Amino acid sequence: MAKSSSSVQMTGISQLERDFQYEADANLWSLKAKAGAFTYSDGDQNENYLLSVIRAASDCSVMSDELTAAMKDWPSTYHLHHQRCNLFRPVVRHLKGPILEIGAGCGVLTRFLGEQGHQVFALEGSARRASIIGERCRDLENVSVINANFQDFQPETKFQTITLIGVLEYARLYFADGSESDPVDQMLRQVAGMLAPDGVLMVAIENQMGLKYFAGYPEDHLGKPMTGIEDHYTDNSVVTFGRQELSERLAAAGLTSQRFAYPVPDYKFPEAMLFEEAMSGPQAGHYAPLVAGAMASDRQKPNHLTFRLSKTIGPVMKNGMGADMANSFLAMSSASDAPFAAPEQSTAVYYGNGDRKKPYLKEISISEASGRLSVTRRTLTDQAPPEDAKLIQVLDDEPFVQGMLWGAALQDVLLKEKWTLGDLADWAVTWTNALKVKAGHAADTSVSVDTILEGSFLDAIPKNLIVARDGTAEFVDLEWHSQEPLKLGYVIVRGLSDALNSVELAAKSKEATDITSMIVDLCARMDFEMSREVVEEYLDREHWFQTQISNLPGRNKQLRFLHTQISHRSLNKFEKKRKNAKRLLHKLRHPFQSLAKRSGG
Ligand SMILES: C[S@@+](CC[C@H](N)C(=O)[O-])C[C@H]1O[C@@H](n2cnc3c(N)ncnc32)[C@H](O)[C@@H]1O
Repeated sequence: MAKSSSSVQMTGISQLERDFQYEADANLWSLKAKAGAFTYSDGDQNENYLLSVIRAASDCSVMSDELTAAMKDWPSTYHLHHQRCNLFRPVVRHLKGPILEIGAGCGVLTRFLGEQGHQVFALEGSARRASIIGERCRDLENVSVINANFQDFQPETKFQTITLIGVLEYARLYFADGSESDPVDQMLRQVAGMLAPDGVLMVAIENQMGLKYFAGYPEDHLGKPMTGIEDHYTDNSVVTFGRQELSERLAAAGLTSQRFAYPVPDYKFPEAMLFEEAMSGPQAGHYAPLVAGAMASDRQKPNHLTFRLSKTIGPVMKNGMGADMANSFLAMSSASDAPFAAPEQSTAVYYGNGDRKKPYLKEISISEASGRLSVTRRTLTDQAPPEDAKLIQVLDDEPFVQGMLWGAALQDVLLKEKWTLGDLADWAVTWTNALKVKAGHAADTSVSVDTILEGSFLDAIPKNLIVARDGTAEFVDLEWHSQEPLKLGYVIVRGLSDALNSVELAAKSKEATDITSMIVDLCARMDFEMSREVVEEYLDREHWFQTQISNLPGRNKQLRFLHTQISHRSLNKFEKKRKNAKRLLHKLRHPFQSLAKRSGG
């Protein structure tokens, strides 16, 4: 139900009451005078679908199950997924009302800002998008939606927070104040003039010099690889900047006090957010596995890259280049030093997979004190797990353990030319030995697969094993405990299947069959004999486990594993993959590129 027209007219912005009218049915303010055309769109079908699902939903909150169930493709996922809000979650303390959100899109972030209780003004140039935001926020009295181009909005009110999330890059297409200067600078100047003296501007934008673009990711708006880093932008196109240029442009607008944060894999779907110290400080190398893991989850990853980001990110960060080569920025800036006087509470915040069921979503914060890193964990929502849950989630705080994530080390083994199951067994035995030791046995003794383990062994799998340079191995983040005791054989099958399914790319090998056969064979080589039937039963159990914790339980990924095999010698295959990837990307790519193209970008 729409808000009453009288309640929303008390916006405190007299320009709204003077030049705009409130349309109660649509829950938005539109200009009384005829507005100029504003053509930005993700396509009629996609936006009409969004409008209809949001209109039909009884729960429009950030964490709405109804809206989660309505995500069916890239545009609907982009506009409905709560993971988008990970951009603001680590910096909520910098969000103060009144907030002006410029270019609010379809309202996924507006809803988050509104749920924080601040007074929010969501400005959106496209009429249909504004009506989608109006629907999404219809029960939030503190949110006013304004359908106007930014240049037609000249409120006398000053704002404590202004956001430009994925918007500044469009300034050359949609904004001009009539002066000669670059519309990007015009927009920043105008925005700076709307801030309260200690107000904060938040700009989220891709990094022109982001590492992933060197690896071959297409420029997000123009759709072609290398166009950003080769600087093919024009006076009439979208544009992105490197860190220094962005910082200088903000400073030129008077916003000289700045704090940059780095969403990974990018600002669109952050799995993690790192602050300056983590990205390029003396301890930056320790954060590289976290960044590599979050980058691997990029939902817009092309099939072929010129190099493996997961391997490159370590040296980049150890050399203090992490911030300059971050994929995107959340640049916070102000004319006053006050907002950034205190350090952030954490150096990095990690959310992981946003497709988990609500009770199990988590937030992991890393902080540094006297050069030591520590880890704090908490659940992201206050929704309790089902009473009859067979699994317990344990989120303990713990010190940060340095070393190599053993699950990720499997990737190197599988990229070796003509790798063998013997190579895989050599890798796996480091973990199974650690498992034996944890269970109280000597690493070199034979232990039966029917050995009963406590439920706390459920997560003692390669992705949670850290191996230090001297070979010492330590399990961390044993998040999942089973209510019932477990058989060692199940933990081994679960660990191998998780590690094999997490591999991005495998070189060709005669010994690559299907995952079940490989696990049966590998276990036999390691003296953990199990029949195919038993392995299949354990794999079914693993699938059941995934259905308990995830909205998108891992399907049978055997196909994916086999399809990603590449021949080291066959470069034509690379080329074929690149073409396939291009075709696929054309369908899936950032939804705004087609418009940017049409607009001369
Ligand atoms: C990439 S989308 C980002 C939307 C939203 N901030 C989000 O992250 O979901 C850019 C949005 O900004 C809007 N926009 C761009 N320039 C604008 C302007 N000058 N005035 C009003 N809206 C604008 C577009 O219509 C579009 O909805």
